[in-house]
Parts: sequence; structure tokens; C-alpha cells
Amino acid sequence: MNSETLLARIFTLEPSHSDPTQLVPPTRSLPAGAHTAGAADWDEAEEFVRLHHAEHPDQPTPLLARLHQIRSQIDHSGTYTHTEDELTFGARVAWRNSSRCIGRLYWKSLRVLDRRQATSAEQIHEHLCEHLRQATNGGRIRPVVSVFAPDTPERRAPRVWNDQLIRYAGYRQESGEVIGDPAYVGFTDMVRRLGWQAPGSPWDVLPLVIDTDEDKPQLFDVPRDVVLEVPLIHPEHEHFADLGLRWHAVPAISNMRLRIGGIDYPLAPFNGWYMGTEIGARNLVDADRYNLLPAIAEHLGLNTSSETTLWRDRALVELNIAVLHSFQTAGVKISDHHTESRHFLTHLEKEERQGRTVPADWSWIVPPVSGGITPVFHRYYEQADQRPNFYLDDDAKARGRGGCPFGH
Ligand code: ARG
Repeated sequence: MNSETLLARIFTLEPSHSDPTQLVPPTRSLPAGAHTAGAADWDEAEEFVRLHHAEHPDQPTPLLARLHQIRSQIDHSGTYTHTEDELTFGARVAWRNSSRCIGRLYWKSLRVLDRRQATSAEQIHEHLCEHLRQATNGGRIRPVVSVFAPDTPERRAPRVWNDQLIRYAGYRQESGEVIGDPAYVGFTDMVRRLGWQAPGSPWDVLPLVIDTDEDKPQLFDVPRDVVLEVPLIHPEHEHFADLGLRWHAVPAISNMRLRIGGIDYPLAPFNGWYMGTEIGARNLVDADRYNLLPAIAEHLGLNTSSETTLWRDRALVELNIAVLHSFQTAGVKISDHHTESRHFLTHLEKEERQGRTVPADWSWIVPPVSGGITPVFHRYYEQADQRPNFYLDDDAKARGRGGCPFGH
């Protein structure tokens, strides 16, 4: 027993043997700073509220009064409740602090939907569909986050097992070949075991798995009318359309935990709009995703007999032209990596003028094509874990791949 525990026992007169019948909830007699599942962290709460007041001094409740309220809520229940204003500010700053995101210039415009009251899987599903409607906005994509109930000592927060609200299934054939997105073979197998009737095409939108404290995990289809998709065409190669490629308009990450002021919101799906390279240089191209460069090169009649013809690079550029052109033609917002890189540097300057550092991860910020001809390549960035922020936990990552939900 360490001295802190010993002191805690002396002062709370807790018996040294464990007594399962004890009436005092164990959280009450834990030493200061001990971790309880779902408990809010007071130091982080204080730091967050101070930040909120520093950036928005016009608050209805003065700083010290608000800190007192929070302190007594935590003492009483182990956690506290964010005001709408704190939630909105916290979610926006979590985006501002996301060091892997190149698109942070617009962090202040994030639309925050407060969904903390939703408890049943049905209600959550309805809100997720509404999220996609508001985000899609007929192609004029808006950045949105929906914040569901947090983890508390009383109740485990809801979760969605999918890593994004819209993703395509992957089916491994006996030949070893995959139809659809190979990254989702494990997840597809898992939802099939839960009863999903798989259509079997390369572009089947996966169902959502919604996991609440009230019930076992439930499957829900994402209705067709909330999924905007763009068929890929090329501005010069008329027959490019024959490849039958497409992608969805909205990337909505659903497995990252939003942490604001010492409180965890494990279900807080958020989206922006796409940068073309995410689709044209990764999703459709990575060897462990759709792996389409050989098919595109063949379609374009490129000489693939040697690497030195740079057929991969040529096919890659044509595919990226097709992605940007198709989204623009369909009236769906998308950005290119040159524009987005410049915007990011503008963001850095603006933030520095406010006296804030912009933590950034070079290996995520530099686009996966033409890195050296974008300005973000030619410098280094500060690395820091600033809160509020979004975090990807190992168990959430495993669930998104169809791994065991209980972390085994
Ligand atoms: N790269 C991921 C995808 O292709 C999406 C990540 C978030 N991207 C964004 N533009 N907000 O689906």
C-alpha cells in the first residue's frame, strides 16, 4: 500500500479489508486524483473553462462562479454538465487542435448539434441520418459534429462501431480477391454475423452498428436518401466513366472520442468536405484499398512494362483530375491539395497572430501526391497534444475493423 492510499484510509476510516456490503460508494473514499470510470477530470475542467472565458469574456456566469458550480457538481456526482456554449466552443477547439487535419481554417464555422439527450439506438440513428442531411446540404457540404451523451460514473456513453458513417463493404472471394473496399472485409463479416443481408456489389454502404447502455448492439441501414455519391468521370477521357467508379460526398468520422474539459464524448461524429487526394490518392489507390492504378493505367493505354515509364504516377494524376472534375460537375464541394495547403498556411498565420500555436503533424499535413510542390512541405510544425481534442482509442479502432467489441 502506498502512503497516499494509507492516508486516505486513515482519514476516511475505510476498513482495510474490502467489504462488498459497504454502503458508501467507493468513489467517495478514493484518494484525490484516482481514476474512476466516467469521472470528469477537475484540472482539465478548470483549464478548459479558463480558456473558454479567455476567448469569450462575455459570459453570463462569471469565471469563478462557473468554476464553483463545476467543482460542486464533480464533488457530488463525479462529473459535470457542459453548457451549450461550452459544448460548441469545446468541439470547435477540438477541431482547431487536431494536428493531423489540414482543413482547420474553418474551425469557427463548425456546426455543433447537441444530441446529449438521445439514449435509444433508434433516436441515435435518427440523429445520425439528420447529421448526414445537414452535412450534405445538397452538395454544399457543411462541417458538422453531433455530440451524444458523455461517459459518466452512472452510465456508459453510446458508441457507433463503424469508423465512418458512410463506408463501402468489402467481400473476400474464394480466390482471395476482394469485391468492394478491402479495408472493411473484417467489419463486413462482423455485420453479416449480426444479420446484415449483403448485396455483394463493390459499392454497398455498410449498415451502422449502434451500441447503447440500454440494449445489445443494433444494426441500422443508412437510408439511400442521406448518402450522396458522385460517379467518376474524366474531363478528357470519355470512356473513363466505363470503369464504374464512384465515391461518397461526405467523410464523417464516427469512432473518435471527443474530450472537452475532462469529459469524454465517445460518440461525436464529425465531418468536413473532401480534399480530392483522400479519394484519388488513397481510398481508390492504396494497395490495401481499391488498388485501382493497374486498371486505370490499362484503361488509359499506358506502357506498364517498366516502372521508369512512371505509369503509376500518370494514372494517379488522371484519377485525381477525374475526382475533382466529377465532384465539381456534380455540384459537390471538394478542394484540391494546392488550395487546401495554402489555406492551411493562412490558418497558421491567423492563429499565430492570436498568440496561439498550431500543433501539426507533418506526415499527415503534407498531401499524398505532389508533396514538394505544395507550400506545407517546406517547413516544420509544433507537435503538441492540446485539449479539447479528438482521440482514436485502440478499442474503437479494433471495432471499426470488425475486431471483437470487447477488446479481446
Ligand atoms: N481520409 C478519410 C477518407 O477518405 C477522411 C478523413 C477526414 N477527411 C476530411 N476531409 N474531413 O474517408
